[in-house]
Amino acid sequence: MDSKNEYAILTSHLTKKYGNFTAVDDLDLKVKKGEIYGLLGPNGAGKTTTIKMLSNIIKPSSGDATVFGGKIPEADIAAKIGYMPQETGVYLGLTVEQNLKFYGRIFGLASKDIERRTDELLKFVDLTDWKYEMAENLSGGMKHRISLACTLLHQPQLLFLDEPTVGVDPELRVSFWDYFENLREKGVTILITTHYMDEARRCDRIGFMKHGHLIAEGEPLELLKNSGMDSLEDAFLEYSKREGKVVT
Ligand SMILES: Nc1ncnc2c1ncn2[C@@H]1O[C@H](COP(=O)(O)OP(=O)(O)O)[C@@H](O)[C@H]1O
Ligand SMILES: [Mg+2]
Repeated sequence: MDSKNEYAILTSHLTKKYGNFTAVDDLDLKVKKGEIYGLLGPNGAGKTTTIKMLSNIIKPSSGDATVFGGKIPEADIAAKIGYMPQETGVYLGLTVEQNLKFYGRIFGLASKDIERRTDELLKFVDLTDWKYEMAENLSGGMKHRISLACTLLHQPQLLFLDEPTVGVDPELRVSFWDYFENLREKGVTILITTHYMDEARRCDRIGFMKHGHLIAEGEPLELLKNSGMDSLEDAFLEYSKREGKVVT
C-alpha cells in the first residue's frame, strides 16, 4: 500500500539551517498524488522554507526530498510544478496580460495557448476587466490573484500555494477552493498553506507545523477527534502541549 509511487512529495530528515538557527528541522513529509495537503502553523514555523526547498529555490542543509520520484535539487521538476510565493511574484511594470504572457513564455507555451489560458484564468480570478491595466495599479488582493493565474498557466501537476487566499474576499476564496478541488479531480496534487481554518477543513489531510517539524498530521476530522477539540485552532494548541507525538 505504502509504495513510493503513491507519493508526489516525500521528504526524509529534511533540514534547513540559517547559521545556528534551524528553520526546518528533520522533517518527514509525505504528500500523496492527487491530494490537497494543508500545511498549518504559526508564522515562523517553517512552512515557506519547506515549500522553497521542495520547489528547488533554496537548497536543504541536510536530508532528502523527492518530487515525483526525482531527487531535489538535482531533478528537473520545473515543468511539473507551479509555485505561488507568499510574497506576490508579480511584475509591477507589466500589465496583467503581460505578466501571464511572461510566465507562459518561460514555460515555452505556444502563443495561442497562452492567449487561451490567459482568458480562461483571468475569468477565473475575476480580473478580465483589468487585463490591460498595469499591475502596480491593482490592490494587494488583486496582485495575489494575478500571481495565482500565473502559477496555473502551464497546468502543473503539483501546486505549491503559499497563503494564496490572503487579501482575497470571502466569495472569491470559496471559488478558489472549488477550483482547487476541481484540479484535484483531475489528479493535480496541491500543497497549500493557510491561516484560515475553514480552508484547512477542505484539505484531505493537514499537517500542523511548529519549530520546523510536524507535531501532528491527519485528516481534519481525525485531528479534531484525536485532540478532543471542536476547532482546529484548539486542536493545534492541544497537539503543541503533547509536543512531539505525531498522529497519523
Ligand atoms: N533567509 C533567511 N535567513 C535567516 N532566517 C530565515 C530566512 N528565511 C527564513 N528564516 C527564518 O526561518 C523561520 C521559518 O520561516 P518561514 O519558513 O518563512 O516560516 P512560515 O512560512 O511558517 O511563517 C523564521 O524564523 C524565519 O525568520
Ligand atoms: Mg510563510
